[in-house]
Amino acid sequence: MRLLNSAIITTALLASGVFSAPSPSPDLDKRQTTSKYCDAKSSVCYLQVQTTSLYPIFRIAIPDVTSTSFDTLLQIVAPVSLGWAGFSWGGGMTLNPLTVAWPNGNKATVSSRWATGRLTPSVYSGATYKTLSSSKNATHWAIEVACTGCSKWNGGNLDNNGINTFAWAVSKTPVAQPASSSSSFSVHNNVGTFAADLTTAKVPQSVFQQHIKSP
Ligand code: HEM
Ligand SMILES: *[C@@H]1O[C@H](CO)[C@@H](O)[C@H](O)[C@H]1NC(C)=O
Repeated sequence: MRLLNSAIITTALLASGVFSAPSPSPDLDKRQTTSKYCDAKSSVCYLQVQTTSLYPIFRIAIPDVTSTSFDTLLQIVAPVSLGWAGFSWGGGMTLNPLTVAWPNGNKATVSSRWATGRLTPSVYSGATYKTLSSSKNATHWAIEVACTGCSKWNGGNLDNNGINTFAWAVSKTPVAQPASSSSSFSVHNNVGTFAADLTTAKVPQSVFQQHIKSP
């Protein structure tokens, strides 16, 4: 009975936010709703995941190729209340490429990271980025990047013909040095995972390359 009571109390305290766990679990449900978003100007159609207006929209696209090594596109459209937002290409915090981004003046900065444990991820040189666009206004900051090295890494790769698990993380705290891609930052206030079939994120190779060349 004592054990049961303490379990109930712990759950109640967690639910009431008295203890702020770094990563509350509700968004770890993989059935987050995905949909398609097409950009009329570039003709790139992205697979997007959007939870609530408190969290960013994440959009990804890949070229229609058979090789497992390919560039990837990622767009993040985040509410200005967020200090940083991150995307995990392997579906969890550790041992896969993490794309982290944050607002910097009226633009945004991308940072390539890798975590060996659930500690501040290190700068990761196995992935390189081209920022295609970035902006910040009164309500949102946004960034689009092309990543070389996010589809294949030491220990894993994306399945471009099937279902993959991805993850995201967000923090309300601004990063220490917004202009620096090696800035330190504090832990997330929330994380989420979702599963999606990457065949639905495929874009014709010519359209994909053209968008990276002249976004
Ligand atoms: C200062 C930086 C960070 C710290 C200290 C940190 C710490 C942690 C801790 C302690 C957990 C376990 C939480 C729990 O068990 O409730 C966790 C989970 C998680 N983190 Fe982080 N994290 C950081 C940055 C990031 C970044 C940049 C990403 C993604 C881009 C990320 C993605 C995740 C995800 C998806 C989970 C849940 C799934 C998993 O454990 O792999 N984290 N983090
Ligand atoms: C602010 O930026 C977001 C993200 O780019 C965009 O969707 C929105 O339309 C912009 N708002 C205004 C008023 O320009």
